[in-house]
Amino acid sequence: MTAARRGAPARIAVLGSGGGSNLQAILGHFDAAGSRRAGTVVLVASDRAGAGALERGRQRDIPAVHIPRPADGIALDGLLAEHDVELIALAGYLKLVPAQVTRRYHGRIINVHPALLPAFGGPGMYGLRAHQAVLDAGVRVSGASVHFVDDAYDRGALIAQWPVPVLASDTAESLAARVLRVEHLLYPRVVDAVARGAITLGGHHRVHHHGTGVTGDPMFAFTSDEEASVQSIDLALG
Ligand code: GRF
Repeated sequence: MTAARRGAPARIAVLGSGGGSNLQAILGHFDAAGSRRAGTVVLVASDRAGAGALERGRQRDIPAVHIPRPADGIALDGLLAEHDVELIALAGYLKLVPAQVTRRYHGRIINVHPALLPAFGGPGMYGLRAHQAVLDAGVRVSGASVHFVDDAYDRGALIAQWPVPVLASDTAESLAARVLRVEHLLYPRVVDAVARGAITLGGHHRVHHHGTGVTGDPMFAFTSDEEASVQSIDLALG
């Protein structure tokens, strides 16, 4: 029985290799929910001892653990079990999650990617490299993608995407900043929906949106106004 059905907030682990701004957005989202929160971050872990994500966890008195051997599935599995983790949110995590963990957390491990998958994803396509590839390809729309994680980079079933315009004046840095703002709005809402059990991973790579009865279609929310877009995200996530 997941926490969502028990009524208790789902116990969430956030794995990150970088500054942890998505972690911060997730923490802020659940803080704003107060006692009605659908999840609570109980563990922050990183393959980098100096990652900002660990520091953010420490500032919130959340166990913040450096994992020196990210490929060691037994060690990672043990750490997650030690904290009774029910949902894993990868947020700027650059290492492949061992198959032992992706199997155990099938349908309970998600990731945010700073481009519109399946394009501009896969090994080595992270951070500014992804944004530079978008600019080099000359596409006019990029965005954020949230997907379930399986045992390959960026290939799991898509849950939600939110498009962002690419401007002629964009550099990889300016595009990254615009997409990151969208990530901070989109990702916490998807984490919340998965934590609530409103979105689940069914068979054959199909995503089920229980709130809206939508099955199989990645959520799409876009307007010119962020707040209106947030409302459309909340509507689409049920
Ligand atoms: C973000 O662009 C995220 O999409 C990617 O890593 C970047 C850094 O995220 N996966 P954060 O600031 O460390 O959360």
